[in-house]
Amino acid sequence: MKVHPFINAEEIDRLNTTLAKKISSDYQNILAEKESLLVVITLKGALLFGADLIRKLTVPIHVDFVRLASYGAGIKSSGEVRFLKDIESSPEGKHILVLDEIIDSGRTWDFLRKRLGAANPKSLKICALLSKPSRREIEVTIDYLGREVEDKFLVGYGLDFNEDYRNLKEISYLE
Ligand code: IMP
Ligand code: MG
Repeated sequence: MKVHPFINAEEIDRLNTTLAKKISSDYQNILAEKESLLVVITLKGALLFGADLIRKLTVPIHVDFVRLASYGAGIKSSGEVRFLKDIESSPEGKHILVLDEIIDSGRTWDFLRKRLGAANPKSLKICALLSKPSRREIEVTIDYLGREVEDKFLVGYGLDFNEDYRNLKEISYLE
């Protein structure tokens, strides 16, 4: 398999800047005084996206993590979501923004939406850097989206193939 450049670091940074501006301006109005937005980063894939995006936010935030796995080995999703790590803070009464680097089948966000939503947050939204609409199995609404991509297997900027390529600065596709 060959690695083909797809989205370079400058474009990723532009997408993050646009997302962060919109999120900051929205939550500026939503958050009460002394209230923080709880940003939930989905490990491991959204590690780099999360680190870059939160540095661009201008509203007060707290950070927490979940870890799910929907992909087994290789490039095909196993179709089931395995829940490996929960957030450590209580979702109750919080404004929560989940960060995922890519929405594919929609299963991960559907699962998290239901799970976190059941714990009475004040609000619950998703921000994804990328989305592959042609791969959707469960219809989901993405509140903040960087851009749509065609159905290619992507690596880099947190995205892996059997744990390889996560640390690449740009996003490439494998073919
Ligand atoms: P979903 O549950 O099918 O929406 O998939 C969500 C997760 O699958 C993403 O957060 C990624 O971690 C992983 N994933 C989806 N597409 C790709 C890809 O093209 N390359 C690597 N990982 C991917
Ligand atoms: Mg992910």
